[in-house]
Amino acid sequence: MLSVENLTVCYGQMKALRDVSIEISAGQMVALIGANGSGKTTLLNAISGLVPIEEGKITWEEQSLKGLPPDKVCSKGIIQVPEGRKLFPAMTVEENLMMGAYHPNVRKQVQESLQKVFSTFPRLADRRRQFAGSLSGGEQQMVALGRALMAKPRLLMLDEPSLGLSPKAAAEIFDIIRGLNKEGMTILLVSQEVMQTLAITTYGYVLENGDLVLQDDCKCLQEDPKVKTSYLGM
Ligand SMILES: Nc1ncnc2c1ncn2[C@@H]1O[C@H](COP(=O)(O)OP(=O)(O)O)[C@@H](O)[C@H]1O
Ligand SMILES: [Mg+2]
Repeated sequence: MLSVENLTVCYGQMKALRDVSIEISAGQMVALIGANGSGKTTLLNAISGLVPIEEGKITWEEQSLKGLPPDKVCSKGIIQVPEGRKLFPAMTVEENLMMGAYHPNVRKQVQESLQKVFSTFPRLADRRRQFAGSLSGGEQQMVALGRALMAKPRLLMLDEPSLGLSPKAAAEIFDIIRGLNKEGMTILLVSQEVMQTLAITTYGYVLENGDLVLQDDCKCLQEDPKVKTSYLGM
């Protein structure tokens, strides 16, 4: 479905990604892990068209995404939930959700999509007229996820969805993510919660300082001594 081949991305002189290749097939949930600054967000941003590609290829269903602007990438159904959620705090929950359906491809079904989001997140239905900025962290992450669902994603890319949440709220968000994948959603999950992430994904990639250093089935990664020492403090 999506393939990234030998991707290199630079910020000025600094190479943030070097020769990185990943594959995601339909229905799969893939993990992208790595320490702070290893290049996870840069990889999502390169796929979304938010940062330019120095070298390499990104292919979506046999078509190159290279050089496409972010709105064109979105219109193909590749939807990113950004790190830090990026909500509009002074707008209501419902208004924030509506922002996800601005594209003409999905705008017609906005009411239907809204009902679907409210049935996935009943708590957001109760708070639909509340300002997004007044919600708890976990609820704000639900709004960010809901807004992405409004865009009818075919590939959902989640950047650190549990960052800053309490363990209880994080567990709830991981449950929701697993549920979305069970219903057939293809997901690329970026997280520093290595244990929780590898428990719900099938295949994983590990980035270190812009290099892809490890890739394997998540069961194997959970047992890998390198993962244990680098990320689990064991
Ligand atoms: N806009 C930018 N300009 C310059 N350097 C950046 C920019 N964004 C990220 N970087 C640098 O690129 C590297 C990778 O960052 P990032 O992709 O955000 O990593 P991660 O998401 O894994 O924490 C880091 O060294 C970071 O400081
Ligand atoms: Mg990041």
